[in-house]
Amino acid sequence: MQFLLHHNVITQAIASNDHKTLEQCRDKNSAGWVLSNSLAAIHSDLSKTMKIDAAHSALKEALQGIALASLTGSDMLAMSPSLKMDYLDSLAVRTAEVFKLDGIITLKPEVFAESGIRAFPPDELPQVLKDDLANVEKVPLLNIPATYPQIWNDVQQEMFDVVRSGYFILGPKVAELEKQVADYCQVPYAVGVSSGTDALLLALMAADIGPGDEVITSTYTFFATAGSIVRTGAKPVFVDIDPVTFNMNMEQTAAAITPQTKAIMPVHLYGQCTDMTPLQDLAKKHKLWVVEDACQAIGSEFKGQRTGGLGDFGCFSFFPTKNLGGFGDAGMVTTRSKELYEKMKVLRVHGMEPKYYHKMVGGNFRIDALQSAIILAKLPHLEEWVDDRRNNAQRYHHLFQKSGLTDRLNLPPEIFPRHVYNQYIVRVNNGKRNELREYLNSQNVACEIYYPVPLHLQECFKDLGHKQGDFPEAEKAAAETLALPVANEVTAEQQEFAVEKAKSFFP
Ligand SMILES: Cc1ncc(COP(=O)(O)O)c(C=O)c1O
Repeated sequence: MQFLLHHNVITQAIASNDHKTLEQCRDKNSAGWVLSNSLAAIHSDLSKTMKIDAAHSALKEALQGIALASLTGSDMLAMSPSLKMDYLDSLAVRTAEVFKLDGIITLKPEVFAESGIRAFPPDELPQVLKDDLANVEKVPLLNIPATYPQIWNDVQQEMFDVVRSGYFILGPKVAELEKQVADYCQVPYAVGVSSGTDALLLALMAADIGPGDEVITSTYTFFATAGSIVRTGAKPVFVDIDPVTFNMNMEQTAAAITPQTKAIMPVHLYGQCTDMTPLQDLAKKHKLWVVEDACQAIGSEFKGQRTGGLGDFGCFSFFPTKNLGGFGDAGMVTTRSKELYEKMKVLRVHGMEPKYYHKMVGGNFRIDALQSAIILAKLPHLEEWVDDRRNNAQRYHHLFQKSGLTDRLNLPPEIFPRHVYNQYIVRVNNGKRNELREYLNSQNVACEIYYPVPLHLQECFKDLGHKQGDFPEAEKAAAETLALPVANEVTAEQQEFAVEKAKSFFP
């Protein structure tokens, strides 16, 4: 939940040296915002009883870990100040509206009585939280703005740095993000690109994969995995999945290798690594490239090593729903090879090196500086968010076990730690998946199917000659799997609500 801390609460907290409410508002489940336009008023109040520099330090300390909400000039001009409130209080109402906050914490709730925004004094916060958290009405699959209080000050700073610099494409923010993502993935090099899809395409182009080549990959994945192979002119060769991890079956991978095979593209689906030891052995034996589709798996590990460093290329997506998402499309390719890194940097800009001279045909795969800046501001939180996702997965395990539903649903085991749970996927037995999905949606519990049709059965791949039954495990997974809300912002109470609703579905 998110609240606006009225400036009178901040002034009082500093004056009385009682930071209890501010402390509570540093928690991600009860996050506080302070209207940046009110800082001058707080400072002016404090300066009546404190020296100016002491007031400034006290204000800075009080606001540690609290997000500053800024209204835009247009927000402010569009607002009509209330006759019954002073201008700053009208701005507070506007802030609560545009940031969709759950209320205003204020010493004078009566001022907001007619505003349509809930307002209450600081000592009521514990009860408000208790009531609201217990009173779950719906569970969204994702609630991206729920994390804004954690990141807002840094994201805003980074975004404005870019806008003020006038430097929007590639440049220093991109270089900094590449360095930090490479470090995070424990590899020396990373190249920022326009999306996860383009990350895959760029990696394949850097490996000179094209017409006549074959790339072995999973049939049970997001379309971009195979789409990128086809776009190079190469042929995707599908294999079935392991029914437990949902990742490529290694016996079938070995059997699919032909003289035309140039690469294997494992997909670390839902955030759990593919079994990389046999895959790496095959690649070594047959001299094949390994292009990891790690778009759902940043931070996931195999035998202590991070994804992105387990093959020749690691391809990541920063699509907003990913564990580390931008405010739009973006992606990254990681590699251990300096040569491939240099080549990808040239291919990313139409194969241009030096300016307006082209030895290769590349593409416009550039990441923009704004996305890089936003992702840079979010990256320091990624480990905490992964922990939250892992804890949420554990909680589902306990709740489902306690509810006695484990004969109706199969829970996702963590075979290769560490699973980063971009998705928490249950299998629904006895052909009940679609019914359960409809029921949960009708009960305000969001859930999704990733993916209803395996790639070998997609119309655009019919020339590959596949038919129903070719990859039975993928087909079974497509008919049985259901993703439940597991993102870092999902609360324990929401998970309990979701499991209760699932229980009420089964007789
Ligand atoms: C497994 C997989 N591969 C590739 C992609 C493509 O990433 P993007 O949407 O950033 O292009 C995604 C994104 O959903 C994905 O989940």
